[in-house]
Amino acid sequence: MITSQVVVYSQHGEPKDVLKTHTYEIDDANIGENEIIVKTLAAPVNPSDINQIQGVYPSKPEKTTALGTSEPSAPTGNEGLFEVIKVGNKVTNFKVGDWAVPAQVNFGTWRTHALAKDTDFLQLPNPDQSKAKGKKSGLTINQGATISVNPPTALLMLTHFVKLTPGKDWFIQNGGNSAVGKYAIQISKLLGFNSLSVIRDRPNLQELKDELNSLGATQVITEEENASRDFGATIKGWTKDTGGEIKLALNCVGGKNSTGIARKLANNGLMLTYGGMSFQPVILPTSLHIFKNITSAGFWVTQLLKDSELKTKTLNQIVEWYEDEKLKDAPAIQTKFEQGGEKQLHEVYQEAVANSSNGKQLITF
Ligand SMILES: NC(=O)c1ccc[n+]([C@@H]2O[C@H](COP(=O)([O-])OP(=O)(O)OC[C@H]3O[C@@H](n4cnc5c(N)ncnc54)[C@H](OP(=O)(O)O)[C@@H]3O)[C@@H](O)[C@H]2O)c1
Repeated sequence: MITSQVVVYSQHGEPKDVLKTHTYEIDDANIGENEIIVKTLAAPVNPSDINQIQGVYPSKPEKTTALGTSEPSAPTGNEGLFEVIKVGNKVTNFKVGDWAVPAQVNFGTWRTHALAKDTDFLQLPNPDQSKAKGKKSGLTINQGATISVNPPTALLMLTHFVKLTPGKDWFIQNGGNSAVGKYAIQISKLLGFNSLSVIRDRPNLQELKDELNSLGATQVITEEENASRDFGATIKGWTKDTGGEIKLALNCVGGKNSTGIARKLANNGLMLTYGGMSFQPVILPTSLHIFKNITSAGFWVTQLLKDSELKTKTLNQIVEWYEDEKLKDAPAIQTKFEQGGEKQLHEVYQEAVANSSNGKQLITF
């Protein structure tokens, strides 16, 4: 028997109030022929996990008593990295020691172990397997545990909707220093696209610009520069120099920041909104629609990656970039959970949620 712990909630509310640890046994001696048992290596806290617990996220796990909870409960966490520790005798897509990520969201990744169908997971190479393939590098725990949301968001937004011509075309993004924004900068560089990243002014602006430039940013400007008519001529000069256009805008802020980047789009350009960090609605002047035929659309990685073929293809590309050391992961603040230690699993996650404003939180096991 394997003693598993999982963070659950039976009612929506703030994570500090509603999370509980549920402990149950997995009978590893009687594993089904198409089942696998995994142990968790790491699972992060994402903004969507918190919204899900609060009950304000459109996609949520069902509340059931399947794990033996006294009242219908839902497991928490959507992203995470697991190691396969046992496989049923008809499982062909996994072997013991493989690394795996949930094939879909709502799996409940804030847990120590899980018993699942083999089709519930997708395989990732573990570091030994990458080495055996002759790769420069193996995935780190952080890369594997955070591979399912932010890197695919950046890659798909850049490639799935608008055809940017390498060496010529541009995309513009606000929140240029966000985790997604940093992946977008790196991936656009890998694909040969030009990036124009808009960030908020700050005392250490040059330091942040240097960091984004070192990731491969083409240009980094402040919100004030983006809003300035005079500076607009400089931006036009940049796009003229490459012979391309700004065909895509990525918006994670909303409000006047979304207007600011939409104004820089060429005729027939597309703005994809994937976040609303300012909590302000997207504002698009009528003239941009009528005279420039700008389109505004939403992007939701959860919806797009329900297509498991697309998910596998997207993850494979990201794995390859990590193995070739062409992509840097966003750093996370790591806390190790000790099963049987002083703190229960839900308490460790409650602290991580509370500390989320200090940076991305990753619980390792
Ligand atoms: N739709 C999807 O499929 C999808 C996928 C992944 C992420 N997301 C969403 O995308 C957003 C960004 O995620 P992330 O993990 O990359 O975030 P993050 O690393 O925490 O970065 C947040 C960014 O937002 C900026 N920001 C925050 N409040 C702002 C404001 N009032 N005005 C202007 N800028 C502001 C921050 O700039 P400062 O440094 O200046 O504070 C920073 O650049 C989140 O809303 C997340 O839920 C959506």
